[in-house]
Amino acid sequence: MPVSVDERGAAVASIPAPTAAEKAVADALPIEVSAEAAQAAIDSVPLWFHTFSLNGGQFYTHGVARDHRYRLPFFPEDLSGRSVLDVGAFDGFYAFLAESRGASRVVAVDNEQYRDWVRARWGVELEGGEGFRTIARLLESDVEYRKLDAFELDELGERFDLILCFGILHRVENPLGLLSILRRRLESGGEVLLETYGVEDKSLEDAAAIHVCESGEVYARDDFVYWGFTGGSLDRLARIAGFAGATVLDAPMIDGHPRIICRLEAGAADADGSLVGAASGAEANGNG
Ligand SMILES: C[S@@+](CC[C@H](N)C(=O)[O-])C[C@H]1O[C@@H](n2cnc3c(N)ncnc32)[C@H](O)[C@@H]1O
Repeated sequence: MPVSVDERGAAVASIPAPTAAEKAVADALPIEVSAEAAQAAIDSVPLWFHTFSLNGGQFYTHGVARDHRYRLPFFPEDLSGRSVLDVGAFDGFYAFLAESRGASRVVAVDNEQYRDWVRARWGVELEGGEGFRTIARLLESDVEYRKLDAFELDELGERFDLILCFGILHRVENPLGLLSILRRRLESGGEVLLETYGVEDKSLEDAAAIHVCESGEVYARDDFVYWGFTGGSLDRLARIAGFAGATVLDAPMIDGHPRIICRLEAGAADADGSLVGAASGAEANGNG
């Protein structure tokens, strides 16, 4: 149920100030601006998802995303000369981080579905993209932002060396379809860094199972978290989608939530990215 007007102020006031964990992640992308510019930037956005470090760490945006420290060890230190696509970028922290680490081209896309989620959970009306634009201006960034659904990524008409798919696979109705699209957008020799919701019940790993979440089970007033993935299920889905497989990098519990991060490497696919391995099982089994 959406928050009422009376609950709205309380909901926003309940967003905690960034912890040392969130600051540590934000500090990987220091944004050197004056105190005045930092405060004006913070005030200009009604709700932040990512925590950004401004003015030598004197100011931080109060991002609602919690502890992302587990992601950073797997984020490449040097992206010189590589192209990067950030899918479901929200305020764009990881797209800007990729640019700061030398990526030659960075594209950030989001369908801005988060506007519904932010309205339902905090009663805040976002126009879409304001956090991204604010940080892009401060950084004088060349990251290209596109309001685009992940299922329309083929419209970009280009491939990328690194695709970031953080916090979105569990939010789409067709995760296998999304992985197939990511595979088509990947340069040969490229990789997808995938982070998503995991499972608490580790015995599900034995069956490569996917947990189906109840509405609101994961986050209050958030009806868009559908799946919790095991490493085994991601590996099988990745192979069907034409990747070589999924290598699990970490599967931590964060703030009471199971998360999983893995690397998907480009596998066998023909020159236009269409799959060569996916059909073989179906051909061998005529029973459908
Ligand atoms: C939980 S946020 C994650 C933000 C960021 N990637 C991170 O992990 O820090 C999920 C983001 O994915 C976006 N999103 C959800 N479904 C999408 C879709 N089908 N196409 C593009 N973006 C989508 C949402 O609008 C939101 O910005």
